[in-house]
Amino acid sequence: PRYIWLSRHGESIYNLEKKIGGDSSLSQRGLQYAEKLPEFVRESAGDRDLTVWTSTLIRTQETAQHLPYKQLQWKALDELDAGVCDGMTYEEIEETFPEDFKARDEDKYEYRYRGGESYRDVVIRLEPIIMELERQENILIITHQAVLRCIYAYFMNVPQEESPWMSIPLHTLIRLEPRAYATHVTKIKANI
Ligand code: F6P
Repeated sequence: PRYIWLSRHGESIYNLEKKIGGDSSLSQRGLQYAEKLPEFVRESAGDRDLTVWTSTLIRTQETAQHLPYKQLQWKALDELDAGVCDGMTYEEIEETFPEDFKARDEDKYEYRYRGGESYRDVVIRLEPIIMELERQENILIITHQAVLRCIYAYFMNVPQEESPWMSIPLHTLIRLEPRAYATHVTKIKANI
């Protein structure tokens, strides 16, 4: 069968500090996930020769560092750009830009950060990735929460407007098997 593997990067320092965006390294737990990932992938992929796609950000590359496969970086897989809010916590955003905070909650799919992106923008920049994925086999993608929501929604046939609210937990390897009428999903959760 044709599979696609997906994972968020391991927990980052910014995740711990509840800050969005940035380019921080992994936390201790995040590094543990990176260490366990090769074993999970082997459990799920056997001896298939995968190709790993990461974003250009440090946390995805650190997550991929122990995987014994060739790796490719895509700028298109970088996290949703939060513009002027990059590096802030949600509390700080609510205090500094209360109207934006409210607007985002009311229409999270369309809301575009000042100087940054909306989910719709991300869906559009993911088009080449999706096209390439449809042609390739044995790809493991290590990327970010918002980007994974959009990719996951695409394969699960969920309307993109719902993608901003989908739950994609940390430290979980997702395997998709696109079939004619539905995509079959298997998840392996790391115990760390
Ligand atoms: O907090 C991690 C993170 O990947 C941020 O970098 C990003 O802005 C956010 O999640 C996206 O999630 P949401 O759209 O729910 O704010």
